[in-house]
Amino acid sequence: MKRNLLNYTLTLMLIVFTSVLVYAQSGNKTTIPSEYKEKVNPHKGDESLKMTGLRTFNRHCVSCHGKAGLGDGVMSKNLKIPPGNLTTAHMTKYSDGEIYYMSFVGEGERPDFIKLIPSEEDKWAVVNYVRTLQKE
Ligand code: HEC
Repeated sequence: MKRNLLNYTLTLMLIVFTSVLVYAQSGNKTTIPSEYKEKVNPHKGDESLKMTGLRTFNRHCVSCHGKAGLGDGVMSKNLKIPPGNLTTAHMTKYSDGEIYYMSFVGEGERPDFIKLIPSEEDKWAVVNYVRTLQKE
């Protein structure tokens, strides 16, 4: 009986320890609130917003993320956390709502664009544009 309890405690400790380790490894991963995760893109695939997306991205995002989204914008060198590469496959794992959140809801070194880009249509145009940057 005592042995069982010991085993149980050890297993529990191992689980807790591993979870902490996995969590720590995930580094500065943003926790995205579910109301954003499930946000539906009302302009999905709207080709008419292409130029709006491009223009808004060039105006607000290129300084850090770079023209092609590689994370090599002029401001990127001054940041403690690299802006990340928006062209790699990991981006395809995000929902549109998650991209929306990471693009516009500021946190740490990520600037807040909720008010700076007031139009919802412009915001979704940027999300659509970010999707076109993925190359892998
Ligand atoms: C001042 C610099 C800066 C500007 C301007 C900026 N970002 Fe970022 N962005 C960052 C940083 C730094 C991160 C990574 C932060 C983190 O991991 O917490 C980031 C992360 C992201 C991510 C998540 C990338 C990933 O790999 O998970 C997306 C998407 C994103 N930004 C989109 C945008 C868009 C769209 C704009 C323009 C509306 C924008 N950002 C403007 C600095 C910036």
